[in-house]
Amino acid sequence: ASTLQGRDFLTIAEFTEDELKTFLNTAVALKAMQKQGVPHHFLEGQTLAMIFEKASTRTRVAFEVGMYHLGGSALYLSSKDIQIGRGETIADTAKVLSRFVDGIMIRTFGHEIVEELAANADVPVINGLTDTHHPTQVIADLLTIFEHKGKLEGLKACFIGDGYNNMAHSLMEGAAAVGMDMTVASPKGYEPSAAILEATKARGVKNGCSIAFTNSPQEAAEGCDVVITDTWLSMGDEDEKDRRLHDFQGFQVNDALIALAKPDHIFMHCLPAHRGEEVAASVIDGAHSVVFDEAENRLHAHKAILKCLLEKND
Ligand code: CP
Ligand code: NVA
Repeated sequence: ASTLQGRDFLTIAEFTEDELKTFLNTAVALKAMQKQGVPHHFLEGQTLAMIFEKASTRTRVAFEVGMYHLGGSALYLSSKDIQIGRGETIADTAKVLSRFVDGIMIRTFGHEIVEELAANADVPVINGLTDTHHPTQVIADLLTIFEHKGKLEGLKACFIGDGYNNMAHSLMEGAAAVGMDMTVASPKGYEPSAAILEATKARGVKNGCSIAFTNSPQEAAEGCDVVITDTWLSMGDEDEKDRRLHDFQGFQVNDALIALAKPDHIFMHCLPAHRGEEVAASVIDGAHSVVFDEAENRLHAHKAILKCLLEKND
């Protein structure tokens, strides 16, 4: 059996270089099968429970459609409707759902909630976004970069925006694992987790790439193959809107900033985007933007994650 079968999927950091390649290769294969109309019911009759404590368009649709393509089905469980919302514990929820379904996906606030769910579930648990990690997005992002650039190792990427952010953290972990340079540029007070910066720097050294932090968006964007941003106001940060819009002035990915990247750079954003805030409309709607390829690749990446973790006859 593969080392991925039966595993949880909580962060990018918990996977080896080879395991991450397996997710990507599986995504490439499944994408080709779907485009060619080849049936791929690898999870016939299996069921995925999807708990959402935050809103979602892409993650929900990718997992739900993905399970359907794989011959299984998915249940959308809003925390407003299930008993978690009335105080049933995460541990009890994990034990009960494990009696019904083959896997559980959860999108929630604190990362420790996903860890507690995984510790108490008998089936694989997939992190569909926490305040500090968004690992399924990064499998789709790496696939998108690979499709556009033909490689990952040796590329230079930057993330401009909120460094203490699920996307920044998971991208740093992904870049360090695949040998891609990644510089995060954020204003003072919005630095990435020091622990994640240290761990990804160390993994990057092993894989011949540099993971770095700066307060200068210009320094980060200089000579990049891939320019990435994300909202300044993540889900849960709504109360800080005025302060954040003020603090992030000068960090917009606009024509002047992107001019510092390589002439053949690509622009990425996990979406949803806020034109005029973290990104100028001319950039996200411009010729270098691959944001809709990136969104589509959630489907193929998530199907790969599901197949690798849940497939039984391996
Ligand atoms: N990028 C992403 O996770 O989108 P949703 O919030 O729509 O799922
Ligand atoms: N950083 C964003 C990502 C949304 C997919 C958030 O957490 O809201």
